[in-house]
Amino acid sequence: MTAAATNRQFRLAARPVGMPKPSDWKVTTEPLRDLADGEILVKTLYLSLDPAMRGWMNEGKSYIRPVAIDEVMRAGGIGKVVASKSDKFAVGDVVSGGLGVQEYWIGAANDKTAAFYKVDPKAAPLPKYLNALGMPGMTAYFGLLDIGQPKAGETVVVSGAAGAVGQTVGQVAKHKGCRVVGIAGGKDKCDFVVKELGFDACIDYKGGSVKDGLKEHCPNGVDIYFDNVGGDILDTVLTRINMKARIIICGAISQYNNTTPVKGPSNYMSLLVNRARMEGMVVFDYADRYHIAAAEMAKWMLEGSFKTKEDVVDGLDKFPEALLMLFEGKNFGKLVLQVAKD
Ligand SMILES: NC(=O)c1ccc[n+]([C@@H]2O[C@H](COP(=O)([O-])OP(=O)(O)OC[C@H]3O[C@@H](n4cnc5c(N)ncnc54)[C@H](OP(=O)(O)O)[C@@H]3O)[C@@H](O)[C@H]2O)c1
Repeated sequence: MTAAATNRQFRLAARPVGMPKPSDWKVTTEPLRDLADGEILVKTLYLSLDPAMRGWMNEGKSYIRPVAIDEVMRAGGIGKVVASKSDKFAVGDVVSGGLGVQEYWIGAANDKTAAFYKVDPKAAPLPKYLNALGMPGMTAYFGLLDIGQPKAGETVVVSGAAGAVGQTVGQVAKHKGCRVVGIAGGKDKCDFVVKELGFDACIDYKGGSVKDGLKEHCPNGVDIYFDNVGGDILDTVLTRINMKARIIICGAISQYNNTTPVKGPSNYMSLLVNRARMEGMVVFDYADRYHIAAAEMAKWMLEGSFKTKEDVVDGLDKFPEALLMLFEGKNFGKLVLQVAKD
């Protein structure tokens, strides 16, 4: 069937309190079984490391069921089909889907949870299929366009600006004729979004006051705020919004490892004063339109008017520490774990 006889996996050992610890994971190695009819064996090449993974480790109701104790940690990724007893995928096909944090995925080719689809390794480097051409890109595109409804000339502010979702939000907004101001941690990230991605300005929230930065860079107020971080930054932006502003609640990474209750915005009455709205979004709701977004962004990439940055960490064993990079701001671009060579 394949030269590899075993599969190494990271399983959830305990529900973390605060930042995940090494002891929250259990590494297992199990033999690879033979394929049944209709099944495929996929070798993991790259895994997408996402802030949402922290939420999936918690108990409780959410938009997706929690990862169970002892279950292989959920993760999207890109892999190569190395054995197939299905007509759907052939050996050598490169697929994107829910591989989990493991070396191999085995199961029915049409498994609904894994939801594999083919990607073209010749059309783009594989990590880009986990960035703008994948889930974060879809989040940015539909969150901004469907919920934000940007109009040319409006001011868009996005937090987590140098990250996977943020970099795409800003560039899509520029393509739609908006003025774009990012918020990111550190001079290097701010320089990147302005000089490389073409944002109009970027506020370094670690180097100065967000309030002062908004006054300086959004002299006409904020029409759209795409919120990736929540907490104090959301509260501050609320003080600068315009009439009929739209706030997209995409994520709240500043709150994901809290051991105390999530800090909600104390300035929410600004929504009333400004007849503004704040709306949450989950990317999966747009699955039937992903191809439209991917085609438009791929076209911009080919034209040279849209860039992406990935931060690739090498080795499955690095998973526990690599995941923490997201919560420490140590990733610079979309965080990807390389598990095997292409
Ligand atoms: N709703 C959906 O369907 C959906 C889908 C995908 C992602 N998301 C959300 O989108 C957000 C961004 O995800 P991503 O994949 O693009 O991650 P990312 O931005 O590539 O990486 C996370 C970044 O968050 C920033 N950060 C970490 N802790 C912070 C804090 N305490 N305060 C402010 N910023 C902090 C860091 O950047 P700095 O160095 O700039 O601080 C870090 O690099 C997350 O909240 C995620 O949960 C939502």
